[in-house]
Amino acid sequence: KTAAIVGCPFSGGQPKPGVDRGPIHLVEAGLVDQLKGLGWEVKFDGHHQFEEISAQYANDPDTGLVRDPPIGLLKNPRLVSSVTESVAQAVGSHCAKGELPVTLGGDHSLAMGTISGTLTTYPDAGVIWVDAHADINTVETTDTGNIHGMPLAFLLGLTACDTVPAAPNAPASSHATQPFSWIPSPPLLTPSRLVYIGLRDVDAGEKAILKKHGIKAFSMHEVDRYGIGKVVELAMEWLNKDYQGAHGQRPIHLSFDVDAMDPTVAPSTGTPVRGGLTFREGHYICEAVYETGSLVAFDLMEVNPSLADAAAVQQTVNVGCSLVRAALGETLL
Ligand code: ARG
Ligand code: MN
Ligand code: MN
Ligand code: MN
Repeated sequence: KTAAIVGCPFSGGQPKPGVDRGPIHLVEAGLVDQLKGLGWEVKFDGHHQFEEISAQYANDPDTGLVRDPPIGLLKNPRLVSSVTESVAQAVGSHCAKGELPVTLGGDHSLAMGTISGTLTTYPDAGVIWVDAHADINTVETTDTGNIHGMPLAFLLGLTACDTVPAAPNAPASSHATQPFSWIPSPPLLTPSRLVYIGLRDVDAGEKAILKKHGIKAFSMHEVDRYGIGKVVELAMEWLNKDYQGAHGQRPIHLSFDVDAMDPTVAPSTGTPVRGGLTFREGHYICEAVYETGSLVAFDLMEVNPSLADAAAVQQTVNVGCSLVRAALGETLL
């Protein structure tokens, strides 16, 4: 069994600097050896480099020319589109080789890439999205224009960027004129194959989208009511209710935003929300999904090592590493 670490030092889906250092801290904390200690063969060939793409869309240093102006409210749309497409290729090629991609973010816009990559190899995969936020804003509903609050809307084909003229001196590509048009249409992901756990900060427009598309969500209210054990069981049941495919159970992509955890557990993240998952609840989700034997891809996103004092950063990085270990089979006994 081989795991492939896909380190994604990227912060363009949101405005706070530092989240691009998340994967570097997670690896420096010893994650690779920790996973080897669990019996995995671990591939890690260094963090993915987005410098070239970033340089293409950075403002011209001499003229100040803006190469990636907002489209509507959306910030850095061309950059995020180009980076996420490259992540889709990286994750997809690991899946195709039968390896388990473990993507370390970086902000959660990266999940457009990771989930697209998974679905090219496992078209009938289900997605478990563990997060305080629904990350399903459309071009119409986003208040912030931060694309890390929108990846699921793009993945589900619920939104699209307008076609715009290429900015002067920007590379001639579909990223420049219609960001995210690389995401296949019809979409690879459908609303019935998505389930949320941990929600507690959902925008009004997002609530309407969840309702309209009948998307299954276990908010913190349901975690309180049923307990985390029952919630994960119900989530798996939901994803497999109509599954007739070859795998026995749907392959699972688990996308874990560290802000799903309570801020007392994982303080160093860009958009913390009180009332989150306990240390054990977060780990239980990872352990239980691993136990199904159906996990085919894992993301750990939004660790930002520059938003707290040294002790709180170390705490967050350590929790991040231990969530990854739990998802890759670490047990308590
Ligand atoms: N809903 C808010 C927005 O659209 C917050 C999103 C936070 N997302 C995240 N991946 N931390 O901006
Ligand atoms: Mn790789
Ligand atoms: Mn979040
Ligand atoms: Mn998120």
